[in-house]
Amino acid sequence: MIAVQSLSRHFGSIKAVDDISFSVNKGEILGFLGPNGAGKSTTMKMITTFLAPTSGTATVDGFDILEQPLEVRSRIGYLPESSPSYKDMNVFDFLMFAAEVRGFDGDERLKKVKDIMETCNLKEVAYQQIDTLSKGYRQRVGFAQAFLHDPDYLILDEPTDGLDPNQKQEVRNLIKRMGQEKCIILSTHILEEVEAVCTRAIIIGEGKIVADGSPEELRSKSQLHGAITLDVAGANLESAIAELEKVQGVDRVEKLIAQDSQKDNNDKKDEDNELARLRIFPMCGKSIAHDVANFVHSKKWVVDGFTVEKGDLNEVFYNLTKGGAKQ
Ligand SMILES: Nc1ncnc2c1ncn2[C@@H]1O[C@H](COP(=O)(O)OP(=O)(O)OP(=O)(O)O)[C@@H](O)[C@H]1O
Ligand SMILES: [Mg+2]
Repeated sequence: MIAVQSLSRHFGSIKAVDDISFSVNKGEILGFLGPNGAGKSTTMKMITTFLAPTSGTATVDGFDILEQPLEVRSRIGYLPESSPSYKDMNVFDFLMFAAEVRGFDGDERLKKVKDIMETCNLKEVAYQQIDTLSKGYRQRVGFAQAFLHDPDYLILDEPTDGLDPNQKQEVRNLIKRMGQEKCIILSTHILEEVEAVCTRAIIIGEGKIVADGSPEELRSKSQLHGAITLDVAGANLESAIAELEKVQGVDRVEKLIAQDSQKDNNDKKDEDNELARLRIFPMCGKSIAHDVANFVHSKKWVVDGFTVEKGDLNEVFYNLTKGGAKQ
């Protein structure tokens, strides 16, 4: 596993990473979230031994980043924030070089490179200079060098940045597959990616951990969590809202679509039979789905939609990090 212990990194007066501790086990895919400048890349650079901490340390598979950096590096595949820097090499030569650095030679080295070019869809650009590749292809070269030696630990800094939607999906599937037996930390600004890929997420704000939990746990901190979105016809809206607010556990009801805005779309319906969307918020910690459903049923309203909201990760992220982005 990866265990980070009181890790800090200061740049002059900037506390880029400020005393963070967490651990990640095999089989976990941990998402790092945070505004620009929050300290995600700096943390990753320290775990991968590319940057020395100001204080604190981390271990990877039991090896200390300060005491045994080579042991750590040999176990890690790292996709840095910026794509590979050997830009004047072609893809094949660069990967052959990366394979040599990883200790492969002879036929094994060639096989590793051919296999990884296949996995990362790089064959068609094998002899193209990295410099001249599109951003997405450069990112794939970054992947190839990170996965080449089939490491147990993967640190991926914004892995889907710059990829087209198909490639994004492919990379997410690949990460999910590998996550079953590896230990993966990835950073991203795409909250949907966290929901789609990660088993756990840490939100970092101004160098500190501000939340740590599964995507479901983080979503449940949202105001929206447990609210009911109700599409209903055949109700007098004002009195419906007043009545719903009296249902046990209901805190308040908001009108999301006004009756008037629906008129044009529903010209078959008469005034009393128009569709409205209401959002019914529970009191803190209450589950209201059952009581609201019973109430709606007893009123004989025509229900077009009834959704129990899981919560909105964007809202949680915003509320926890609204101190803003650092330079
Ligand atoms: N080499 C450096 N010298 C000075 N300051 C630095 C250096 N590297 C990072 N910083 C500062 O440390 C802070 C954290 O930067 P970091 O790159 O870790 O953020 P991040 O969370 O990865 O942001 P982003 O989402 O933009 O990639 C920022 O304020 C940044 O300017
Ligand atoms: Mg970064």
